[in-house]
Amino acid sequence: MTPRVIEDNVATYRMKYLASYLLGLALAAPTVIAQAKLDFVKDVQPILQETCVKCHGAEKQKGKLRLDIGELAFKGGKGGPSIVPGDAAKSELFRRVKLPKSDDDFMPSEGEPLSAKQLDILRDWINQGANWPTNANPQAVASAHPTLEVKLPEYKPSAAELKAIEKLGQSGIDVRPIAMNTQWREANLRLLGTNIVDASIAPLKEVMGLVDLNLAQTKITDAGLAAISGLTNLNRLHLELTGVTDAGLSHIKNLSNLTYLNLYGTTVSDASLAHLSGLKKLKNLYVWQTKITEAGIASIKGTIPGLEVVAGLELKPVEKPAEKKEEKKEEKKEEKKKD
Ligand code: HEC
Repeated sequence: MTPRVIEDNVATYRMKYLASYLLGLALAAPTVIAQAKLDFVKDVQPILQETCVKCHGAEKQKGKLRLDIGELAFKGGKGGPSIVPGDAAKSELFRRVKLPKSDDDFMPSEGEPLSAKQLDILRDWINQGANWPTNANPQAVASAHPTLEVKLPEYKPSAAELKAIEKLGQSGIDVRPIAMNTQWREANLRLLGTNIVDASIAPLKEVMGLVDLNLAQTKITDAGLAAISGLTNLNRLHLELTGVTDAGLSHIKNLSNLTYLNLYGTTVSDASLAHLSGLKKLKNLYVWQTKITEAGIASIKGTIPGLEVVAGLELKPVEKPAEKKEEKKEEKKEEKKKD
């Protein structure tokens, strides 16, 4: 478990509360103007994609930093976390883009500096809590609801399913259609967090139309996962930061339509991989901060062709500043040589 991530979420929730509070004020008294809340996908992600990801993405990870996936961006690079939600002034990422171009640390290290407007956007986004929605990962977006790209087959829920959905709704769990005019559904229980225990999700076993389920940061245990063991239409499953262990994953071994599985921050180990080997459609597997080893990753990749495993990058112990400077020069030199 990383307290950081939890703090991030707390910050995000606080921001959400604040935003709706301000909105309430603005509606009540039209003279109060709330600062526009930036939208990560619309405002921020394009800047990172265009100016940073070629060196901090899937292909190259300069400074061991990735800026294409939220979880890895928050984890930061060699120098530690690069984004401090709520505090642009303390965020290495913002410090670097604000530097004079001649500075050694200036980013982007090649190409045009960011415009004043882009700098404002990055600053405001960080100060507003640096909300980076989990579904904003480029691969995640690409593989989200692949059923929508082809024409969605008709799906007609059974009476028992509709009843279960109603029951879940009464306990505050919203199982909603993924688009207009469809009965395929999604549920995000992450927002309910620790209120969600195994019993809360028991009725899900009837919801065969469920394609996207987020149980991240809930109190679900191995036993609770029995409720979803038959949901073979499930496409995406978030189990990150839960108490789920190797044994629990035996319940998902038949979910053959899974394309996305997030196990980040759980204690699962290589022993769980046997349960995943039948999930041949799996495209994205997140195992950062688990006990899964490199050998385990290699073996699961061998079983599931086309699988991308995000394991995060190992942080080396903090180097002494003098050595760090040297290394940096080396890295930059190497960069130059390559071009
Ligand atoms: C042409 C390649 C390139 C581009 C483009 C680039 N960077 Fe970098 N970045 C590097 C290199 C090389 C390093 C490692 C050397 C260093 O620390 O200066 C680095 C390091 C960093 C670090 C420090 C990581 C750590 O923990 O040590 C941050 C933060 C960073 N870049 C942010 C950005 C941002 C934000 C952008 C986009 C506005 C960007 N970079 C664009 C090459 C690049």
